Amino acid sequence: LPDGLALTPPMGFNNWNTTGCKIDEKMIRDMADIFVDKGLKAAGYQYVNVDDCWAEPQRNAEGKLEGNKLTFPSGMKALGDYIHSKGLKFGIYTSAGTVTCAKTMPGGLDHEDVDAQTFADWGVDYLKYDNCNNQGRPALERYTKMRDALKKTGRQIVYSLCEWGDNKPWEWGKDVGHLWRTTGDIKDNWSSMLNIVKKNAPLAPYGGPGHWNDPDMLEIGNGGMSTVEYESHMSLWSIMAAPLLIGSDLRKVSKENFEVLLNQEVIAIDQDAKGVQGAVLSQKDGHWVFAKPLANGDVAVALFNENTTSATIGTNVAALGLPRSPGYSVRDLWKHKTYQSAGQISALVPPHGTAMFRIKAGGDWPRHEPL
Ligand code: DGJ
Repeated sequence: LPDGLALTPPMGFNNWNTTGCKIDEKMIRDMADIFVDKGLKAAGYQYVNVDDCWAEPQRNAEGKLEGNKLTFPSGMKALGDYIHSKGLKFGIYTSAGTVTCAKTMPGGLDHEDVDAQTFADWGVDYLKYDNCNNQGRPALERYTKMRDALKKTGRQIVYSLCEWGDNKPWEWGKDVGHLWRTTGDIKDNWSSMLNIVKKNAPLAPYGGPGHWNDPDMLEIGNGGMSTVEYESHMSLWSIMAAPLLIGSDLRKVSKENFEVLLNQEVIAIDQDAKGVQGAVLSQKDGHWVFAKPLANGDVAVALFNENTTSATIGTNVAALGLPRSPGYSVRDLWKHKTYQSAGQISALVPPHGTAMFRIKAGGDWPRHEPL
């Protein structure tokens, strides 16, 4: 939506991938605490989002949603207040249908105005609007109604369209929401992650400030992939300017995986102000080169190896669209080292790994010898 919100891809947390319906207010508050204590907030993670199953199964006498009395006894307004007290933002979920996907709570279909106002009253900053139990009614109509209802509240609410790419939301979502899912649900395994990359990457021209392709949440820390694979996950989501919504239980995430989530140099690529979704420059035999032009004229590159054998993957500065220069500085965003190059960019990439660089024309060249 061209309203000044989500000018860079949203960053935060969503509980679904790790807990499913088993949530409660303590877990969500713990996440907000961890955001602050472990440096996630400082790194840019901002939204603490509650997914399906947070509400009472029925609307109240006034026709409004209420937090589930057993699992969210303090109520949703209090939860939002707590999240805000930490300097973070509060996200909530419902479905553009009669009930949500888990069928434990009413959906927003034909209740758009009352639900949007309830969310605004609670201080909600982000709404994920799912697609289950939609009665076969057209997606554009259902998602537009909630857009208008949110707008009417006067509160700034990031609006995430979760219709799984079924109705090509990249073709119409720019005027309806701030982001739209491009695929079905991610799972915490390599082939699921890879399939999502294959679907989301060709949609690069549709992403931009205020209107992002959403290849679903990060599985980093959930345990189903190796650290190298999670580094690829983080690299690819960042070069594709995807929302970075952590889908793991941060109370249980290892030090190594925290380091993946907290890599500031990679996050800076995702959050770059130019807001271009990096595109695939080449892809041959499972060896991929992604490039993303950045606001200061640098170009980010991801060299991704989908195979189970190591491979040298490379490109050059002309292919990346960098200006001619006697030399280039090449910053390795995972090794945190800077090299010099006359124009070739390449790396030996481990199985399922990704090398990621930020290339600058000029740089220190030629004061240092190439390595
Ligand atoms: C389907 C969505 O795609 C998931 O991300 C999650 O929100 C579930 N529904 C919740 O039921």
